[in-house]
This record gives sequence, C-alpha cells and structure tokens, in this order.
Amino acid sequence: MPTALDNAIEIIRLRQSVRTYDPARPVGKKERDRLEACMQENRAGPLGHTVRFKLLDLGEVSREELRQLGTYGVIRGASLYLLGAAPDREGAMEDLGFCLERILLEATALGLGSCWLAGTFRRASFARQMGLTEGELLPAISPLGYAAPRQRLMEKLMQRGARCRQRKPWRELFFTADGRTPLSPEEADSYRDALEAVRLGPSAFNCQPWRLVKDRDGQFHLFLQENRLFNRALGKVRVQNLDMGIAMCHFALVIRQQDITGRWKRKAGEREYPGWSYIASWQASC
Ligand SMILES: Cc1cc2nc3c(=O)[nH]c(=O)nc-3n(C[C@H](O)[C@H](O)[C@H](O)COP(=O)(O)O)c2cc1C
Repeated sequence: MPTALDNAIEIIRLRQSVRTYDPARPVGKKERDRLEACMQENRAGPLGHTVRFKLLDLGEVSREELRQLGTYGVIRGASLYLLGAAPDREGAMEDLGFCLERILLEATALGLGSCWLAGTFRRASFARQMGLTEGELLPAISPLGYAAPRQRLMEKLMQRGARCRQRKPWRELFFTADGRTPLSPEEADSYRDALEAVRLGPSAFNCQPWRLVKDRDGQFHLFLQENRLFNRALGKVRVQNLDMGIAMCHFALVIRQQDITGRWKRKAGEREYPGWSYIASWQASC
C-alpha cells in the first residue's frame, strides 16, 4: 500500500478538500487498519503536546445520536469521520494541526478524500462521541471516504467562494532575514520543495496565514500573520494556529525525503516582525 512518506510532495499536490462522498463505497478494512496505525504513530506534536484521535463510523451510532451529528449540510455521503482532540494549552493547536494533517495525507495516499472541518460541524455532539476529558478540546474533524463521481452545486460554490485552488505566490509568503525582501526559490536552495509544500497546504478559509523567514545562518522561522477576528471567532479553538501545524507537517515530511534531518522547535527570544506572531524555528541537525 502506498504511504504519504513515499512521495510527500506529490501526495500534498494531490490532496484537496472533498465535501461530497460516494455512499455506495465504504472505506475497507485494510485502509481503516492503516489509518488506525497512522493515528497511533502520530500522537506527539513538535511543540510537545500529545493529541488523540478517533475514527467514528456513523453506522455504529444510534439513530438518536446520529440525528445530533451534523455538518450543517456541508458534507454529504460520508459515514466515516476522523476526530482530533488536543489539550487546552498554548501550542496544542499547532500540534493537532501537525498530526491530523499527517493522517489526512496518509488517507490521500490510500485514495481517500477528506476535508478539514473546524467550523462547520456540531462540535458538542462530536465531542460526546470523542469522550473528551477535562481540559481537552475538539478543534477539528474530517470526513473520510471515496469522492462521489460528481460534486454538488453547493460544493462548487464553496470552492469558488474560498478560491480553494488558488495559493499566494512565493513573494507574499517567504522572506529573507529582514522579513520584507522576498526569498526566491533559488535562495531557498535545498529547502525549495519544503517551502512549496507549505505554500500548497490547506488553511481555514484558504487564508494562507503562514510566513517563513530564512535568517543569515540559513535557518527557517515560521510566523503567523493572524486575522485576529477570524482566528478568535471559535473561542479557544484557533483555526489559524491549526494552519501553522499543517505548514510544519508539510515542511517536515518533504525535507525528510531529502535526507535533511531536523525538527521544529519553539525558541525563546526569536526576532519579532511587525504584524506577525512567532510560532517555531526549523533546526537542521546536520
Ligand atoms: C484548519 C482548517 C479549518 C477548516 N474548516 C473548514 C470548515 O469548517 N468547513 C469547510 O467547509 N472547510 C473548512 N476547511 C477547508 C478549507 O476551506 C480548504 O482547505 C481551503 O479552502 C483550501 O482548499 P483545498 O483544501 O481544496 O486545497 C478548513 C481548512 C483548515 C486547514
């Protein structure tokens, strides 16, 4: 079976949000087993928090419970959902974003569709299914399944509204040490594909709030250009911090294939840039 690690950048290119599923094609046992294994392997985020996942099969919940689970009509035809829980602590959103995206890329490699949902689902009902413990949040879920042969009109409209296929150009995302001069793909050198993988990532409402700076020592630092109103609209669930975790996941997966070892780390006293919040730095270990 293919895995997202075989060719990360291609899997990242392939992934796109699927909101209409084929109810006649349930996810098979082999695929579920692979997903379960991936859920176990990816519970530790780079910023030090442990997250938790559950595969929820709607065929196994009672009619009464089923009535309360919903996505406000956004998702159609899916009977399997991946639920992601994280502790209510600073940095845990990034860790959940990192680990959940890793599993969704595995799903892509298995030929399955998915769609990050942080807003359009009944959080309290799914949280009951997750069995949240004290101090835990359910920031996001995703349907998993085979895409229906045809999209619904609503899905097409949503994609157009969020300009889903479009991404900002390099010059708006990646910078040299002054935080203003754009970093060219040539200057990114062996990190070129890793940055491209960040650029292609999904983000809430396709805002693409990630900004990366290459400093004079060749180290990369990740920042969030926050839309405060949007990022705080869901209370403790910070969707744009989830986006940051997704960016870290894409970067780490692609760089690993190039035999560059390293890890993301939040460092104290990192340089500040106006309008950006510091998230983490990539520390290459060779
Ligand atoms: C953290 C996060 C939260 C999201 N929440 C929702 C949501 O609540 N409802 C929805 O329909 N799409 C949601 N999306 C999907 C984005 O709209 C989508 O990823 C983006 O428009 C890019 O499109 P693509 O995934 O097809 O590349 C979310 C994506 C992310 C990363």
